[in-house]
Amino acid sequence: MSNLVLYRKYRPKLFGEVIGQEHVVKTITNAIKDNAVSHGYLFAGPHGTGKTTLARLLAKAVNCQQRKDGEFEPCNQCDSCLEINQGNAIDLIEIDAASNRGIDEIRELKEGIRFRPVKSKYKVFILDEAHQLSKDAANALLKTLEEPPAHAIFILATTETHKMIPTILSRCQCFGFRKLQMPEIIKRLEAILKQEKIVFDPAVLTLIAAQATGAMRDAESLLDEIVSFTGQDGKIELEETRVLLGLSDNGSIFRFLDFLARKQTKEAFEFINELAFKAVDLKEFIKSVIQFLREILFLKIDPNFQSPLVLSFTAEEKKQLQELTASFNGLQVKLMLEKLMDAENKMKYASILQLPLELAIVELCAEKS
Ligand SMILES: Nc1ncnc2c1ncn2[C@@H]1O[C@H](COP(=O)(O)OP(=O)(O)O)[C@@H](O)[C@H]1O
Ligand SMILES: [Mg+2]
Ligand SMILES: [Zn+2]
Repeated sequence: MSNLVLYRKYRPKLFGEVIGQEHVVKTITNAIKDNAVSHGYLFAGPHGTGKTTLARLLAKAVNCQQRKDGEFEPCNQCDSCLEINQGNAIDLIEIDAASNRGIDEIRELKEGIRFRPVKSKYKVFILDEAHQLSKDAANALLKTLEEPPAHAIFILATTETHKMIPTILSRCQCFGFRKLQMPEIIKRLEAILKQEKIVFDPAVLTLIAAQATGAMRDAESLLDEIVSFTGQDGKIELEETRVLLGLSDNGSIFRFLDFLARKQTKEAFEFINELAFKAVDLKEFIKSVIQFLREILFLKIDPNFQSPLVLSFTAEEKKQLQELTASFNGLQVKLMLEKLMDAENKMKYASILQLPLELAIVELCAEKS
């Protein structure tokens, strides 16, 4: 398992393993069961949410040599399934419109499409980033979609539906893919780690899932990075993960906010200069401080508020956050946020990077509470 590439290794091989996208899975598996697969599909949605995965699953299912009538899962054992899993099936043609805008490929496709599939029932064309097709290529594709031969299936995937030609959309059955939710991502990561027999701190997964912003692929790549860093035998720890993901360490943010709460101008100044001396990225630092203050603002409004950030905290950190929340009133939090956002902005142009932050400290510590 050295150099594992998790997102490839764990690409679902069955419809049943796909997370989310329920309506897409349901409609497509029904069509496979009923032998009523369309000739044109459009899969639209954010990257890393299962478009290519489902396109390949569809190709595999329709060409599976062992699938019985009324079933939809591919067997993953016959020659056709194995070839698709290995990425060398002759009758599955994947074209990336982003890399060459597809002119030659579409021309070939137009010529090639008349010929029956070599080995399988269907010739399946997956056109990735279809919105990037050149005008000529798109027109050629449109002609083909108007009268597709019975043995051809086209699956267009795009992250930007609005850039697609409407006439192409009208020739396809269109599906919107959604971003995956944090609990869905976490469950999948847990399953992967269990299968890889890797020990981990559950808070790490929350942290990764929050960073992935809905893309399963990103979550798996982040996990990959962390696993290759700690090694398979090493336990995955929270602090290490934070450092690897380039997040500020929570301790220093709490300390800084604590100085502000106590209005300790001198200590806050020294602390900032210490960070600068240690080459901590102050822009990232202030960004994190603002993020924490926003959490505190939420907690002021609703003490039971659970954000992704807070979910990734240790019990000790949660307690610290609560204590900080109690030490400010709502107005103070608002003022701190305003002053720090202002400083963050000014840091973009400041000749002495920490000066805007220092001025904000002076103002905030001088405030009467
Ligand atoms: N809905 C999903 N369910 C399970 N795994 C997923 C899902 N979406 C993405 N993945 C994971 O991310 C990887 C890349 O997904 P992919 O289907 O290529 O995304 P897209 O084509 O939408 O950019 C897959 O190999 C798989 O490991
Ligand atoms: Mg894709
Ligand atoms: Zn099969």
